[in-house]
Amino acid sequence: MMSQLRGAGIIGIGSYTPKKVLTNADLEKIVDTTDEWIVTRSGIRERHIVADDEAASDLAIEASKRALECAGLSPEKIDLVICATITGDMPFPSTSCLVQNAIGAVNAAAFDLQAGCSGWVYGLSTGAQFVRSGTYDHILVVGVDVLSRFTDWSDRATCVLFGDAAGAVVLGPTAPDTGVLSAHLGADGSGGELLRMEAGGSKLPASEETVRNHQHFIRMEGREVFKFAVRIMGEAAIKALEMCGLTPADVDLFVPHQANIRIIESAAARLGLPEEKVFTNVQNYGNTSAASIPLALDEAYRSGRIKEGDVIVAVGFGAGLTYAAGVIKWTLPPAG
Ligand code: ACO
Repeated sequence: MMSQLRGAGIIGIGSYTPKKVLTNADLEKIVDTTDEWIVTRSGIRERHIVADDEAASDLAIEASKRALECAGLSPEKIDLVICATITGDMPFPSTSCLVQNAIGAVNAAAFDLQAGCSGWVYGLSTGAQFVRSGTYDHILVVGVDVLSRFTDWSDRATCVLFGDAAGAVVLGPTAPDTGVLSAHLGADGSGGELLRMEAGGSKLPASEETVRNHQHFIRMEGREVFKFAVRIMGEAAIKALEMCGLTPADVDLFVPHQANIRIIESAAARLGLPEEKVFTNVQNYGNTSAASIPLALDEAYRSGRIKEGDVIVAVGFGAGLTYAAGVIKWTLPPAG
């Protein structure tokens, strides 16, 4: 195992989901689908959707406040805010700056990070480097997405899959060889076309035509993304474990990106993990993109599924295409 001067561990965690719940029965009224199709193909039963007056920063701010409270840390102690999102409030200023201001992290630098559903693990890995090197002491890593605002509610192949949420952690110095032990990040830009939002950027700015053509919505070749995910989840997790001298047998809890129960089951099978070592909450939230893993981690921690010293493997895949796996030796005492 890599020897370190100090570790970079999770010292606080929190999440937030909007109040409004959209069930499969609700979706049956909007598009030609059935609860049975959605459950058998994806495992999803319901998802949370933002209110009209809520945006990504509102969710991220609430999750961040909860993570800070869990850490018992005042916001002025935060040195850097990293916000992983593909659905920020607006192209600029960054959502991380909106969060920095709202929580009073007056001493923090702030930037957004875009790596689709892998974004939060990318952020975790980036933040951990700063803490381990001694450059910064406390980093807020938020994952937030509001995909419902970019969902084509007439496209049954995508609108049943997504939900809105935010999850946040505070990273801080921990004992050597604890906290984030390793991370394996990757990308395959040749698959970018498989999951995209075509318009609204410098290539195809918003126009009457782009709106008419539904080009401000998520477009996805689901079957191809599915194949990529099934292959890459297990591979990335094994690489991250190898990087810190561990094997799947050392894993106490597997916390995968919650996109589809069939993808999760096949990744768990690849790692040879029994059901009790795999955390799932996709049934209650759908795919919440960059929020999915920190939301799952927060639920797992608060429900007592993770204890101090446990080895956690978090792995995600998403738009880009990107993938990311991180191994974490848990450093938080039981949730009070
Ligand atoms: N209800 C009923 N039927 C549907 C629905 C629906 N909601 N959606 C699609 N179908 C139909 C299709 O039209 C197709 O019909 P056909 O055979 O007559 O053409 C049939 O069901 C099968 O469709 P497939 O796409 O082959 O279904 P599949 O088993 O692949 O499941 C799914 C689709 C759930 C989308 C799956 O491919 C998947 O999960 N892909 C990965 C998606 C994902 O995880 N994306 C990550 C996004 S990450 C980010 O960064 C945002």
